[in-house]
Amino acid sequence: MSWGMNNRLARIIKPKTGKTVMLAVDHGYFMGPTTGLERLNEMVDPLLPHADVLMPTRGALRQYIPPKTDVPIVLRVSGGTSILNENLLHEGITVSMEEAIRLNVAGVAFSIMVGAKFERDTLLGFTQVIDDAERYGIPVIAVTAIGKDMVRDARYMALASRIAAELGARIVKTYYVEGFEKVVESCPVPIVIAGGKKIPEADALKMAHNAIQAGAVGVDMGRNIFQSEDPVAMIQAVKAVVHEDATPKEAYELFTNLKAKKE
Ligand code: 5RP
Repeated sequence: MSWGMNNRLARIIKPKTGKTVMLAVDHGYFMGPTTGLERLNEMVDPLLPHADVLMPTRGALRQYIPPKTDVPIVLRVSGGTSILNENLLHEGITVSMEEAIRLNVAGVAFSIMVGAKFERDTLLGFTQVIDDAERYGIPVIAVTAIGKDMVRDARYMALASRIAAELGARIVKTYYVEGFEKVVESCPVPIVIAGGKKIPEADALKMAHNAIQAGAVGVDMGRNIFQSEDPVAMIQAVKAVVHEDATPKEAYELFTNLKAKKE
């Protein structure tokens, strides 16, 4: 692995703990003005000091994030369908590698849809991005999704994650499911979990904790942070779970204490 690739991976997965808290704010590329991100900069500014990595789209990065920001960027480089389209996640390449380099990214993220009629398109777009990115030592993070008729379980998440790694992903982002050890064990590259739809804070912290216990290296979490009753308190609680091995109870207490201080 080249020095550049290793260095970028070390900016994403912190060498001190071998873990990462990535803050996903890329939702607008298929969901439009997502609740909490309407004025993305106002949401993200106070969260940035607590995030190891920020995952935006190119437009959001340019318009909302000041270039002086020193948080590493993992740029969303896939898209092409919206939530209004029945073939959601039939995605292709939306950003060239030249542009990603110009934006000084630490990595790029691409969604693959395994088990959908159009899976081949997304997998071939993904490998095209990997070929381009590897040339410059840029890691590609696979965001795995499975066909809508498939149950989100360990068997299918392991299948999608392993395919992503076999095709060249350096990191895999997937969903936490019961039996997550199976997903981690059969995937030869580090795994981070997405948060998914907003759930109560205590449940989201438990999910993050279970994922870490099962061997995930961190989270790439969006809605469960920025749609929280207190996003700044929530990201700090997530950080305690990921980097300090806090139990869900300890992390939830931290969340409520931090939140209470502001009230
Ligand atoms: C879509 C995505 C999202 O845009 C986002 O990054 C997910 O974050 P969360 O589910 O935690 O809100 O990856 O496939």
